[in-house]
Amino acid sequence: MEYSNPKLILDSSTIEAGKIRWRSPSNIALVKYWGKYGQQQPRNPSISLTLSQAATDTTLSYGPKQADRDIDLEFYFAGESRPDFAQKVEKYFLSLLPVFPFLKQLHLRIDTDNSFPHSAGIASSASAMSALALILCGMEKRFFNTLSEESEFLQKASYLSRLGSGSACRSVYPHVAIWGDTASAPAASNDFAIPYADEVDPIFQSYHDDILIISRAEKSVSSRAGHQLMEDNLYAENRYQQARQRLTRLIDAMKEGDLETFGKITESEALTLHALMMTSNPPYLLMEPNSIAAIRKVQDFRADTGHPLYFTLDAGPNLHLLYPDNIAEPVKEFIRTELVPLCQDGLYIADRCGAGPEELEA
Ligand code: PMV
Repeated sequence: MEYSNPKLILDSSTIEAGKIRWRSPSNIALVKYWGKYGQQQPRNPSISLTLSQAATDTTLSYGPKQADRDIDLEFYFAGESRPDFAQKVEKYFLSLLPVFPFLKQLHLRIDTDNSFPHSAGIASSASAMSALALILCGMEKRFFNTLSEESEFLQKASYLSRLGSGSACRSVYPHVAIWGDTASAPAASNDFAIPYADEVDPIFQSYHDDILIISRAEKSVSSRAGHQLMEDNLYAENRYQQARQRLTRLIDAMKEGDLETFGKITESEALTLHALMMTSNPPYLLMEPNSIAAIRKVQDFRADTGHPLYFTLDAGPNLHLLYPDNIAEPVKEFIRTELVPLCQDGLYIADRCGAGPEELEA
């Protein structure tokens, strides 16, 4: 796949100021991507639910270049100037100059904010990087009248999101997305994610994902470092094979609407992810005592009620509670009485599977 295009250059005499704004959601992996090689290529395929509330809202304002630098960029997060983020985005944009050479002709100002509480300890790279990639594709479309086919637009946005943060490539599609080569979905690719909502039981389109904020603290080991540690993990090859098999089984369960198999694989994946962290060298532990207390309560609730409530975990201590809409009432009551006391400051985010990113009026 080759997106380099030296023709995407603006006529410098006619550059007008403008704005472009996208809101893009986070996503939660069911089969996890953990381990990568080359340019953000995944060691195994993954599948995720696209969220709705946990999203990043980003506006990029552009105009004639002001400073004599390759990338002339300012960055504001929640209204505050963030040179640290500016540096990261500058590096990303520099790497994309062969794809979008017009970036070096403009002054760029990025204003971004997350819809979920700041410092909730929720990874925001998927929503942040997909919002940026969608904006870049939106600029190309606006300036050069390209990418008019939606599928082409989203595939390029997914590809470029992946280069920013692997898991971000799955956020550009509504409800369900698959990323990585797998025999179960012939259209899937290591280069970009594909939409998959239409292939699975519609029950997943209104699935809930309530996020228990067990700790708001920043993770002690970044996912970049975590992926790196997989390279020397003794269990790595078995893990990648397991992930491929689980993906196939999970896809079948999701097609059949088999919530029990879906939940069992999902929980097992969460614990495997954390087991891989514990078996890295050096080993590390991102779960907190309350993560485990909450896991036990979820499993007890399921045993007592028979309701298909299952959890997953990201690379952190916070639990994601997955359940179909038809049991929302008893589950919400259970969360309020039993689980909120385990959350830091009683914080949890009631999220849902969502319709994907949207362009907003800038
Ligand atoms: O996209 P990254 O490099 O931040 O990695 C994310 C990895 C997990 O969130 C733990 C799993 C996944 O597939 O999203």
